Amino acid sequence: MNNQNLKIALQKSGRLSESSTNLLKKCGVKFDNGTSKLRSVARNFPLEIFFLRDDDIPQYVEDGVADIGIVGRNILAEENRRVETVRPLGFGVCRLAVAVPKAFEYESIKDLSGKRIATSYPNILKDFLAENTVEAEIHTISGSVEIAPSIGLADAVCDLVSSGSTLFTNGLREVETVMSSEAILIARPALDAPQQAILDKLLFRVKAAEAAESNKYILLNAPDEELSEIIELLPGIKSPTVMPLAQTGWSSIHSVIAETDFWETVENLKNKGAEGILVLSIDQMIK
Ligand code: PRP
Ligand code: ZN
Repeated sequence: MNNQNLKIALQKSGRLSESSTNLLKKCGVKFDNGTSKLRSVARNFPLEIFFLRDDDIPQYVEDGVADIGIVGRNILAEENRRVETVRPLGFGVCRLAVAVPKAFEYESIKDLSGKRIATSYPNILKDFLAENTVEAEIHTISGSVEIAPSIGLADAVCDLVSSGSTLFTNGLREVETVMSSEAILIARPALDAPQQAILDKLLFRVKAAEAAESNKYILLNAPDEELSEIIELLPGIKSPTVMPLAQTGWSSIHSVIAETDFWETVENLKNKGAEGILVLSIDQMIK
């Protein structure tokens, strides 16, 4: 059974951990992920899960220790490993940015000339500085980059920013965006047929979970004379379901609407005379 499993590497603890395990759970994959666990075998899907340091994941996938993995695009850009990008996953959105202490009188990128910049992304930073014809000293450190200026190790940092709270609590101010990033699914090139088949099965579920999250199920009652106008507001997957109510002159309509504009749709429906509008979350959506 073991070599028939697909092995996936996830971040053990950090920005992507929770969303990564949640994604698998939304795909109906059941497994234990206690904080001390390094490895877990799914109970109901041929998947073996490794919990690793995110920075190590591209190498494990390249070496075939894991078949697939979830990492930030930033890590892949830094390391240039021989792995394939399968798809972006829509979470873990962040940016790699240069930040300076509040007291640094920063006006333009030229102010970084001759300065010491601490980062865990020396390759990306080197290219960025070269593109901007700025010469600076890059200090590569593997963690806690944000404290480098306060301990006198650097004049600036180049680090990932998500909510910005790490920079804020360390008295740093973001001044340049180097690259934007998000979580991506990577795979080792040329997966064997059985592994590819498991990956396809998993991707089918990922797509269904994503579609479900970006849509809502809507039910409402509509006066028959407004039916055609109301239906126009509700495209549905094919077209809305329309059923007569026990009360003559009224129908019940069921449909699916996009999550992004559902408030607007609901307002328009109400203006057209719709009543008893219910909006429900969707668990899975297979088109
Ligand atoms: C990044 C970065 C910061 C934090 C920024 O760490 O190094 O510590 O996220 O997030 P914030 O803007 O929301 O405060 P990451 O989770 O990638 O872990 P790592 O750097 O230890 O690998
Ligand atoms: Zn990391």
